[in-house]
Amino acid sequence: MPAYAVIGAQWGDEGKGKIIDFLAEDASVVVRYSGGNNAGHTVINQFGTFKFHLAPSGICWPHTMNVIGNGVVVDPDVLLDEIGMAQRAGLPGKLGVSDRAHLIMPYHVTLDELEERRRGKSAIGTTGRGVGPAYVDKVGRMGLRAGELLDPEDLSLRMPQIVDFKNELITKVYGGSPIDIEEIFEKTSRWAEALAPYIVRSEDIIAGALEGGENVIMEGAQGALLDIDHGTYPYVTSSNPTVGGTLTGTGAGPRSFGGVTGVFKAYCTRVGSGPFPTELEDETGELIRNKAGEFGATTGRPRRCGWFDAVAGRYSVRVNGFDSMIITRLDILDGFDSIKVCTAYELDHKEIDRFPVDSVLLDRCRPIYEEVPGWQGSSAGLTQASQLPPGAMAFVRRLEELLGIPASIISTGPKREEAIVLRSLMQ
Ligand code: IMP
Repeated sequence: MPAYAVIGAQWGDEGKGKIIDFLAEDASVVVRYSGGNNAGHTVINQFGTFKFHLAPSGICWPHTMNVIGNGVVVDPDVLLDEIGMAQRAGLPGKLGVSDRAHLIMPYHVTLDELEERRRGKSAIGTTGRGVGPAYVDKVGRMGLRAGELLDPEDLSLRMPQIVDFKNELITKVYGGSPIDIEEIFEKTSRWAEALAPYIVRSEDIIAGALEGGENVIMEGAQGALLDIDHGTYPYVTSSNPTVGGTLTGTGAGPRSFGGVTGVFKAYCTRVGSGPFPTELEDETGELIRNKAGEFGATTGRPRRCGWFDAVAGRYSVRVNGFDSMIITRLDILDGFDSIKVCTAYELDHKEIDRFPVDSVLLDRCRPIYEEVPGWQGSSAGLTQASQLPPGAMAFVRRLEELLGIPASIISTGPKREEAIVLRSLMQ
């Protein structure tokens, strides 16, 4: 059986954690392929309520192996906290981290903060978790990988050179306080001991599952519009949440894929800076934020809220090749008299229907809306399509038309079982 990618289709926070917890019943391996502990995946099931920042959201199922792929950057302290939390809660899934996942070191967190401060008004609004600087070092060939923790001799050769360089940067360019190398060595030896049993060759686990006829889920983090290549650069994260990341970030081959699905919220949100054409800076935006609890799972920041953007959505379909969409948080739109969907933009007095990826152009775009009727009655917690208010189903059908792909699942609440399956996603 194949691999299935579940990808955030907007600016992140689409509710992927809940969906992956739901789908993992039918998978034996769940692999996170990108990002770091900038993500916060909320999962609610019989074990409790969890916000996973690193652990794949399949970890609540006893039959799953949950792999943090090589494309992820890992803060070992955060990972150890999550392992502790999973043990205390009795979560039955197994966990592994790729030997080639890069580590977020204390100097990455320091640099994330110093770089943001220096950007001043053009700050990206990062999550401050050191994710960007860790990817910079990965590409700059100055990174440390999980597997290297197991080779203290090599670490003791490489580390002083790296820390010297980082300290020059921190003190001379940013005027910050240097990092103590002894503290770093203390940390790496503690991490090595605690993480050794979890360090795995992830590509072998994935290949083994696929060859054995098992389903594998590729778990996205963040969203397509935050992608370093395809997102609203420079207001993006430093990895590839789009479909390419499922290959480079895991070591799976393209022929093993059986489907690529995009997770779309029934409206849009964005955290941090950057263009957001359908943003509602009024009481409707406030209403959505409060009703939906749109506050960052990682930083607690209020999320910017706006209407569903089908122009951005079509772009996301194009750059990911989605074959279906999962619509989340439909219940939040219950009770609105009417709902708006952005179908085109006005840019410099011209109507356009293609997403200008350039942030400066996108920032000048004004949304052109289609207004669709709202619905009375509640969709919250429903599990059958026949129970949905007709207006809610009409809204879903309109999104399918606008994006040109069918909806496979509608999520109607935060709990695992609160979902309507319109078509089966996995074999
Ligand atoms: P970084 O990934 O911490 O470097 O932040 C870069 C941008 O991506 C900022 O605008 C963040 O708010 C945004 N971002 C990063 N991770 C997430 C996420 O999981 N959900 C939503 N936005 C995110």
